Amino acid sequence: MNKIIAIASHKGGVGKTTTVLNLGFSLNQLGQKVMIIDGDPQGGIAVASNLKKRTNLGIINLIKNDASPKDVIIPTRDKTMSVVGIGAIEPEDVLFMEKEALRGNLGRIIQSISKGFDYILLDSPAGLGGIVTALLTVSHSIIIPINCRSIVVKTIPSFLKLINRVRDKLNPSLRIEGMLINMFTGNKTSETEVYNEIMKQFPPTVFFNTLIPFDEKVEQASIKAIPVGLLPEAQNIARAYIDLATELKIREIQKNMGGVGDEYAEGLF
Ligand SMILES: Nc1ncnc2c1ncn2[C@@H]1O[C@H](COP(=O)(O)OP(=O)(O)O)[C@@H](O)[C@H]1O
Ligand SMILES: [Mg+2]
Repeated sequence: MNKIIAIASHKGGVGKTTTVLNLGFSLNQLGQKVMIIDGDPQGGIAVASNLKKRTNLGIINLIKNDASPKDVIIPTRDKTMSVVGIGAIEPEDVLFMEKEALRGNLGRIIQSISKGFDYILLDSPAGLGGIVTALLTVSHSIIIPINCRSIVVKTIPSFLKLINRVRDKLNPSLRIEGMLINMFTGNKTSETEVYNEIMKQFPPTVFFNTLIPFDEKVEQASIKAIPVGLLPEAQNIARAYIDLATELKIREIQKNMGGVGDEYAEGLF
């Protein structure tokens, strides 16, 4: 079964797009068939992957029905991962996309193009609007990137309210895959204070054990529009994303195993 994961947060600049690109790349390195989809009208993934040199068509064209999936699903150079951009979106398209999202059309499109992939990672816009709601509605789970900044942490409850609302009304099986601490420097007093604060607020199992450190190389990879794994000098941070992908897999395996029932009381055979 394929798994659709939204990478979402109420806040911008916390590392959603960077997580989609690098977690997607790492899951792919672990042998998974991965598709990353731009759900952000600002086109974060299209920019982060320099998709425009291949196509200007994307999600908005599927919504408008003027392109077909094969026009928008673009395999990477080595053909292992596929990227779907937002398309050439005009300011007036954003409201249209919000409306179509609320009517369920964005979710239906994502479901229809996601067949045949193991993981579909959705890059989400910041906020609590219709597009985010639609992305959460179509997802099996959500990863919430967090920076240890006071304003990010203080506003988490409003985002959790949205998740609960989606669960109550639209998608009862939506799970929080985990909160991901991102851009962690480990050497700022305010960061330590905020870190301690969130650890008090939420149970430890909510967080991925993997922390993504702050690393200038992320920006260097971003200039070249590649995942950090493809930048020779960025292998430290690339390792953190491999750890994250591995942890995600381990969490899944453990959840699926769930311990044995009575039927195994006499052994495996
Ligand atoms: N671990 C990191 N270390 C350093 N810079 C990072 C890291 N993660 C993301 N960034 C930078 O932070 C900025 C915001 O990240 P981005 O993924 O675009 O956030 P969002 O999609 O949540 O708005 C980008 O310039 C990105 O290169
Ligand atoms: Mg983004």
